[in-house]
Amino acid sequence: MKVLVTGGLGFIGSHTCCELLDSNYEVIVVDNLSNSKIDVLDKIEEITGKKVKFYQGNVCDKELLREIFRDNDIEAVIHFAAFKAVGESVKEPLKYYENNLLSTICLCEVMKEFGCRKIVFSSSATVYGSPNKLPIKEDFPLSTTNPYGSTKLMNEQILKDLWISNNDFSIIILRYFNPIGAHKSGLIGENPNGIPNNLMPYIVRVALGELPELSVFGNDYDTPDGTGVRDYIHVVDLAKGHIKAIEKTLKGSGIYYYNLGTGTGYSVLDLVTTFEKVNGVSVKYKIVSRRPGDIGSCYADSSKAFKELGWKAELGIEDMCRDSYNYQLKCNK
Ligand code: WQD
Repeated sequence: MKVLVTGGLGFIGSHTCCELLDSNYEVIVVDNLSNSKIDVLDKIEEITGKKVKFYQGNVCDKELLREIFRDNDIEAVIHFAAFKAVGESVKEPLKYYENNLLSTICLCEVMKEFGCRKIVFSSSATVYGSPNKLPIKEDFPLSTTNPYGSTKLMNEQILKDLWISNNDFSIIILRYFNPIGAHKSGLIGENPNGIPNNLMPYIVRVALGELPELSVFGNDYDTPDGTGVRDYIHVVDLAKGHIKAIEKTLKGSGIYYYNLGTGTGYSVLDLVTTFEKVNGVSVKYKIVSRRPGDIGSCYADSSKAFKELGWKAELGIEDMCRDSYNYQLKCNK
């Protein structure tokens, strides 16, 4: 069975391609390399011993999508391709709305043209805004506090309306919590360009001496140590969740929403101390003021994914810290 993975050379996309290949799916990737590197193709082959069929280009390019669907008998799509930097989305909202929404619309239109009715969509816990209780369930109120999050919520609405108009679609919407970690081989992982926005890649750079110290954005939240709490999930667990989602699309039509998290929240300082312990390094940090738009605590109730997909996270925070560092060490070799 052939699966098209948009953004398949990115952080989560590349790990999902490995899991798909290991599960004997045939994988086609379209990626414009705006936030990924072409050498990830070789790394995926090195890890799995299998090749991915690659098309370089933009998911907003319907002619390219038509070529891909004409050339390949695609049964299902996993749609990762999107811009994902919260801060950048505030500065350049139109760029985010155009890319993140138009890509989904173009993809779904071409899927309809070619009779492909199965899609797994990469959404985010950011659609829950600032939850008024925890853990977060899929039926909680939805709201967003930045354009990036709004594109995720709007895409969910687009897919819901598509389902209402075409009940033969099978649509699985996966809401990720905080993906970190890397493949145990150290060959693929999270390697953002420039200064990282997210916590784990920043910690790794400080541990390697590439950045002087971590700024901890606030220690006055209503959390055990005052620093922000998040539900960090190993990217390999997240990738495996996509295999379960693809399996679900094969069982019939419908639209389904699932939280992919561990159900456990860790603070910024928890992550720093765990990272130092498992890797035998020190991470210098200073407490600074809160980052605008941040919430204090966020972690998932992922019981619905367990009940309906048979999926649950297996890897722990120590694995995430070890694998993140191992990847960067290999990258720098
Ligand atoms: C985690 C915690 C920060 C950096 C974002 C997006 C979300 C998803 C994941 C795409 C918070 C603190 C961070 C730093 C810090 N992205 N922090 N110093 O903001 O929970 O989620 O990334 O899908 O949609 O919203 O992740 O890693 O930026 O922050 O103290 O230099 O670490 O305040 O408490 P976040 P993050």
